[in-house]
Amino acid sequence: MFTKLEAENALSQARAEAERRIARPSLPLLTNFSRSYATYQEARRHLPSGASSNIRVHGHDPFPILFKNGLGSRVRDLDENEYVDLLIAYGALILGHAHPAIVSAVTDQLQNGSMLGTTTELEVEVAKKVQSMVPSAEMVSFSNTGTEATMEAVRVARAFTGREKLLKFEGHYHGHHDYVLFSVESPSVVAGLEQTPSKLPFYPGIPEEIAKTVVIAKWNDTTALEKVVRRNAGDLAAIIMEPVLGSSGVILPDEDYLQSVREIADKYDVLLIFDEVLTGFRLAPGGAQEFYGVKPDLSCFAKALGGGAPIAAVTGRGDVMGMIGPGRIGYGGTYNGNSMCLAAAKATLRELTRNDDEAFRHMHIIGARIMEGLRELMERYDHEGIVQGLGPMFQVFFTKESKITGYRQTLNVNIERFKTFRNLMLQRGVYFHPDGMERIMISAAHDELDVERVLAAAEESLRELPRAH
Ligand SMILES: Cc1ncc(COP(=O)(O)O)c(C=O)c1O
Repeated sequence: MFTKLEAENALSQARAEAERRIARPSLPLLTNFSRSYATYQEARRHLPSGASSNIRVHGHDPFPILFKNGLGSRVRDLDENEYVDLLIAYGALILGHAHPAIVSAVTDQLQNGSMLGTTTELEVEVAKKVQSMVPSAEMVSFSNTGTEATMEAVRVARAFTGREKLLKFEGHYHGHHDYVLFSVESPSVVAGLEQTPSKLPFYPGIPEEIAKTVVIAKWNDTTALEKVVRRNAGDLAAIIMEPVLGSSGVILPDEDYLQSVREIADKYDVLLIFDEVLTGFRLAPGGAQEFYGVKPDLSCFAKALGGGAPIAAVTGRGDVMGMIGPGRIGYGGTYNGNSMCLAAAKATLRELTRNDDEAFRHMHIIGARIMEGLRELMERYDHEGIVQGLGPMFQVFFTKESKITGYRQTLNVNIERFKTFRNLMLQRGVYFHPDGMERIMISAAHDELDVERVLAAAEESLRELPRAH
């Protein structure tokens, strides 16, 4: 069984190791990105903004690098440049690219039917595996994306409580349905007071009537939360949150914060939804709820669950989930619980839990080495900044702060410096997203060689990166 203590030990060991500064080899610079450029220009003529998801082009200046294939922890772009992949498809590839267990499970399943359109034995088997891993999962309901999972969870919470309002936190992202697309980003000029954040639609096109059902609060602040909950008690169906905030860089909950939120939810009789789309099957076998020992009423999973196949799940209390069904709470989807994705999920969860959860131990150790190595290099090359998070997901912030505990502090992070650092790393064969509000993520496929490659690239990049002063 993997424990939080092991994660803490991984970090302190990595810290001690990082102090032993070692000489690293210099890396050849990647210089040819011509096919990526040409294909992106062509894509812009056929796909809006040249991509099927905005985040794939957002922040990518001057143009996005386009990938051709991937294996394990490495990806190759259209110009045959190879990178250590620290984006891992936004966290989905928890076992790395083209893991043989997933390839073989999906191939076998395709030969027996990609989807059967009924409940299957495989579906029951994967549900049982999820229940055995996730502490609060008394029942499991499958869908295909994180967006669908949070959308269903919110509706289930509203139907179960008979109330309309949803409380979400500033800086948290729960997918691209209208219920939750408020105050995902809050630029300073319009953000309002930190204790009482303004409610800002993330995109145009979201009806004002929906905005009336959403309440925004400051995260990681129990007093601020209780005030908002008290003010809305009676109308509030649920509180939804990322238990570790991974959509504003990576911000950890303060000691006991999650427990306090649990108590506030109980006191005011409101459901608590953990969006574990990023943290699930990543921080620990049972996600952040296991890692921090706090049980939500409902949870949402996607990304790592399928190891790259589009599968998601809503899990939670038996009495709440048990209300889903014909004539009660609606839940649907042609592709829900399709056999192809379930086969990928079964293989992924089996590999993750093999040898007493070894993959989680491994991700924490490898990630901690990169985190602590980066921290030491930032200091050595005199850059103002911090590296924070946990081994499997963390972020570098170029900031004067010694710790970031809330969304508003991220507004003063030097995003341009991060972008320059990222582009220097890219030229040295390390790939992550240029927007510092995304994350660096580690898969079970990353190894010691990757640690050395990333730190060698970081050493040269941080040496070259101009100082803030
Ligand atoms: C925390 C969180 N919730 C929900 C989602 C939405 O998931 P999907 O993109 O699969 O719809 C994401 C996606 O990045 C996420 O990070």
